[in-house]
Amino acid sequence: MGQAVETVLGRWSDGPGPLHRKLSDALRRAVERGHLASGERLPSERDLAARLAVSRSTVVAAYDTLRQERLVESRQGSGTRIRPRPAGGTPRTGFELSPVYRSLIDGPGELISLACAIFPAHPLVAEAVATVIDEDGAKLLTHNGYVPAGLPALREALADVLTDDGVPTTPDQVLVTTGAQQAVSLATQLLVRPGDDVVVESPSHSGTLDAFRARGARLVAVPVDDDGVDTRAVADIVTARPPAALYLMSTFHNPTGAMLSARRRREIAELVAEHGIPLIEDNALEGAPLHEERLPPIAAFAPPDAPALTAGSFSKAAWGGLRVGWMRGPAPMINRLAELKAMNDLGSPLLDQAIATRLAPQLARLRADHMVYLRRNLEIVTSRLRELLPSWEWREPRGGPSLWIRLPVGTAAAYAQVALRYGVEVIPGDVMSPHSEHGSYLRMPFAEEPPVLEETMRRLAQAWEAYSPTEEPSRPAAPVVV
Ligand SMILES: Cc1ncc(COP(=O)(O)O)c(C=O)c1O
Repeated sequence: MGQAVETVLGRWSDGPGPLHRKLSDALRRAVERGHLASGERLPSERDLAARLAVSRSTVVAAYDTLRQERLVESRQGSGTRIRPRPAGGTPRTGFELSPVYRSLIDGPGELISLACAIFPAHPLVAEAVATVIDEDGAKLLTHNGYVPAGLPALREALADVLTDDGVPTTPDQVLVTTGAQQAVSLATQLLVRPGDDVVVESPSHSGTLDAFRARGARLVAVPVDDDGVDTRAVADIVTARPPAALYLMSTFHNPTGAMLSARRRREIAELVAEHGIPLIEDNALEGAPLHEERLPPIAAFAPPDAPALTAGSFSKAAWGGLRVGWMRGPAPMINRLAELKAMNDLGSPLLDQAIATRLAPQLARLRADHMVYLRRNLEIVTSRLRELLPSWEWREPRGGPSLWIRLPVGTAAAYAQVALRYGVEVIPGDVMSPHSEHGSYLRMPFAEEPPVLEETMRRLAQAWEAYSPTEEPSRPAAPVVV
């Protein structure tokens, strides 16, 4: 099943020019990129107008343009379809990338993008770069450069960090990866076959849901509350029909900001050990705390040989551009993941790993600095929300760089269309959900510097004033019908 057409169109209304032109351009692009296939039926003019929060005449004009270009055809009774195209176009892929990572590929353009929570680099990163060049450069350049499992010094440094965090770890239990994203993708390659069940939280991190979907997994959703995932729901699923893997974000949950309680960590650890169900714990957001309280990863509550993998990253604590993360687990599983890492890219770049090696002992300080930064930002955003958007609801997150906001009326997908025209890219909750739930929620990152946050809030408030829920889609987030 394809994605909702408004998702496929992405930030179609960005930039100058009449709306109908931008819409026909975006539809053409979607066909060229293989997001809309030959024969695929487009929504009716009325339906698309409602979903994109534009007038019907805008859609009529866009479809007219595409008909003149012979890209679409309309027939009485069967609606408007994409015409068969000559060979040579982009083949339609088996999965659709969610707009969160799509936005990184396209770049922000003129918009303020709330697609990802991206921090400025911590000043210690620049210091570590200089030290690596001055002190490690000559030695590094004598290395052959290929270390698929990771630079030994970095594996050692990370093993020390993890041991200090309460989970005794040896270097052969650590694989260095290109961010937490690759750690989770490699675990997916190792553990999941097409058609397998994977238990995920709802909502969840769309970047990982994309990886599972691309692998052909069947997503089994479990709810999340303030204490993290509902462990009873996980236990019921695991005993009824054991999945290929559990994917959980215990510290912290993206997008709700929940932190899995110690009791629930123990319960998950017991399930993993007792049933041998592989766990992929994704702690990519650990570097973005809002409180001092810390808990060890779930693996700390399980026997050492239990199939519990824990992903971590320098992205939030230090800098996303470093692209260094890790996976911790039993040595035999880490060894298998290293084989996959070798096949994927033969190892992460040596210089980046050397910089991370310098930063690893400072992770606690980096986290503490981010806590101060994020708390100030949270204060700014929540006070502006109370002032400008008092009907929006949210709960105080335990950690992580985003608010999970509930709109009082309408759908976040339709509001996102209006927000685009006020210069903000908003990610609606259904994109963050395994089965397009949470249509009345949106995720609002607050990792940017205060002037950007202030401007974002101003534009969101203007867009909210302009959004009238009569513009609501008749069938919210319905997929393109093939
Ligand atoms: C839960 C989660 N996993 C993985 C990632 C990707 O992280 P990285 O930059 O380390 O690849 C993110 C990014 O925000 C995330 O929130």
